[in-house]
Amino acid sequence: MSNVVATQIKSHQRFGGVVPEVASRHHIEQITSCIKDALTQAEVDYDDLSAVAVTYGPGLVGALLIGITAAKAVAWAHQLPLIPVNHLAGHIYAAQLVAPIEFPAMALVVSGGHTELVYMPVENKFEIIGETRDDAAGEAYDKIGRVLGINYPAGKPVDELAHRGQDTFNFPRAMDHDDNFDFSFSGLKSAFINTVHHADQIHEQLNKADLAASFQQAVIDVLSDKTVRALREFPVKQLILAGGVAANKGLRDRLTHDIQRFTNTKLELVPLSLCGDNAAMIGAAGEMLYRHDVRADARLNADPGLEF
Ligand code: KG4
Ligand code: ZN
Repeated sequence: MSNVVATQIKSHQRFGGVVPEVASRHHIEQITSCIKDALTQAEVDYDDLSAVAVTYGPGLVGALLIGITAAKAVAWAHQLPLIPVNHLAGHIYAAQLVAPIEFPAMALVVSGGHTELVYMPVENKFEIIGETRDDAAGEAYDKIGRVLGINYPAGKPVDELAHRGQDTFNFPRAMDHDDNFDFSFSGLKSAFINTVHHADQIHEQLNKADLAASFQQAVIDVLSDKTVRALREFPVKQLILAGGVAANKGLRDRLTHDIQRFTNTKLELVPLSLCGDNAAMIGAAGEMLYRHDVRADARLNADPGLEF
């Protein structure tokens, strides 16, 4: 009914990434007005609520603690159940805001902190069948973006730049043919950075659009190939593409093509407005957990390294 996002990107940009203390400070400053705005936009009052859902991990401990403390306060003051939500389950359940998820389902979650293939045999059951062994896809975008002189977060601008170039550099596609569903992006990131530094040393000017296109093609090739293979081994009704990197146009186009051509699975692309971190997706996962009687009490704590 409402989805209020307090962005703090500008405060982190001059540091080239998220500074945990700065993030915590912004959470403290914004959370009360966010909650108020969410109620106002939805035209409801605290009395109309059935529960309060809150992210308790994975993520930065300071920011998580502020959300948890605020949620506990609201739940206690208004005698509402408190629902603990995994941030990644939230990304996946953004899909439920469009249409009910059909099980068994698979999710490819690609964000700034995670790259995971999650198999969901039934509702509220999550099995990680593959994940990154080093950098997350979004993290790689942000790091190579910096080398291209693009501000954090670099995903969207690199995506746009990539569409004006061609894959001429043929960067490595790590683990693409390995017999598992894991990913690795740090080799690609290093290959990219080394290529640019080497060109700088010999005063050679490289085409930035081609660099971006080559990087993006390598990322998309691996993500799509592995996902198609996972769908062959775990046949499901639906594949959900979720997380900040799910906004990537090249990835959306490629998966749309490959899923239709090579599998019998329906593809659910989370709408662009719900790919990046937001509260509506936490509400959607919270609603599901509420139906499954999942509750937390006043002892709920942040779990920065939370897994499914
Ligand atoms: O899910 P998210 O909002 O936050 C985390 O939970 O990490 O994802 C943020 C990440 C950033 O690394 C950002 O560069 C990336 O998503 N991103 C993109 C695009 N839009 C955002 N990466 C590639 N292409 C995009 N269009
Ligand atoms: Zn996220």
